[in-house]
Amino acid sequence: MRQSSETGLILGIESSCDETAAAVVRSGTTALSNVVASQMSLHANYGGVVPELASREHLRNIVPVVREAMSRANVTFADLDAVAVTEGPGLAGALLVGITYAKALTFGLDKPLISVNHLEGHIHAVLMEARERSEAPMDLPLLALVVSGGHTHLYLARQGSANTWTYRNVGRTVDDAAGEAYDKVAKLLGLGYPGGPWIDALAPHGNPRAVPFTFGHINSRPPRPGVTNKKAPATNEGPHFDFSFSGIKTAVLRYVETHHLRESIEARRAALAADQSITPKSETVANLCDQQTLDLIASFQYAVVGNLQRQTFAAAEALGAHSIVISGGVAANSELRRRFQAEADRRGLPIAFPSLALSTDNAAMIAAAAWPKLLARDFASEDLGATPQLRLGQQ
Ligand code: KG4
Ligand code: ZN
Repeated sequence: MRQSSETGLILGIESSCDETAAAVVRSGTTALSNVVASQMSLHANYGGVVPELASREHLRNIVPVVREAMSRANVTFADLDAVAVTEGPGLAGALLVGITYAKALTFGLDKPLISVNHLEGHIHAVLMEARERSEAPMDLPLLALVVSGGHTHLYLARQGSANTWTYRNVGRTVDDAAGEAYDKVAKLLGLGYPGGPWIDALAPHGNPRAVPFTFGHINSRPPRPGVTNKKAPATNEGPHFDFSFSGIKTAVLRYVETHHLRESIEARRAALAADQSITPKSETVANLCDQQTLDLIASFQYAVVGNLQRQTFAAAEALGAHSIVISGGVAANSELRRRFQAEADRRGLPIAFPSLALSTDNAAMIAAAAWPKLLARDFASEDLGATPQLRLGQQ
């Protein structure tokens, strides 16, 4: 096995949910390629990800996607220093496709295999792009909000010796993830899947204060004795800043019922089903909704973003974070970016977001997160398996 990592070329592979992705990243800084085969249109018919279909599609896509990533990067397998793959969290069958392929590849090539936590990947997407722009490293400790369809987590991140990163989970959702709430509310309102981009596009057309949604206080979490993970030390005594998004979803449902919106929702669902060309980016999208629905959508987004913002900045202040990183699919949201940026500016806290392409799932983030592990020679063993509930850092 090669001992040096002079070129720092890592092939990243990501298959934890509904995107088959591969990317080649040099020294955790420059993405030479970043290929994503999305299964969105397949799952859109069901209004959510169907695990069995996801695994089948990953199987179909993994070889061409990796080949495409290698070809766009203009490198050969022999040039690689390591292959990095998502170990978890995610769908077991979906993860296994990427892991099995990565293991076979590294075995055949006699190269190191690096396992990466998907959530750590989301954080490193932002750090990689900051390095690519030659910005000064983010001040540590940094507070990372990873907010997507499957996760709403706050981590306090530090860099230890030998380039390694350590994470402390200081907040998480106790029920639905924020992106899941977006998707469920969009589905309830007869909009397309995934719901985030639709609500993002429609919200500016409504009054965000029309429906006063509220979020209750969540008590600091009790210890969770049943949950163990070999990679997650159990104790984490500090304050926690947890989230809950199932209440607002129910509140939207109640609003729909008490305001008799069902009929117009069904008409919208039928119109969208009949005209697949309408996308959340199109200018005509607001014409699909009456003003009451637009106000409801704007109020939902205003409340969700406000809640994410309050918890994140409260955590940053209480824990003495010196910078903030926002990542995950919901980090693509325009209102979220605007309000978080304004609040960070007000407090004089540096804040960074990924580009839109690296907000949602991709493999460049997996290769970027693997770079410090390559430097530290932190390699996965040959018996690496999928860990669907994998946690990141100290809980
Ligand atoms: O990170 P990601 O691609 O996959 C997961 O790890 O879950 O995130 C997908 C989630 C979906 O719930 C989607 O609705 C949400 O991110 N999303 C958005 C936006 N774009 C994607 N949510 C709000 N606003 C957006 N612009
Ligand atoms: Zn993700």
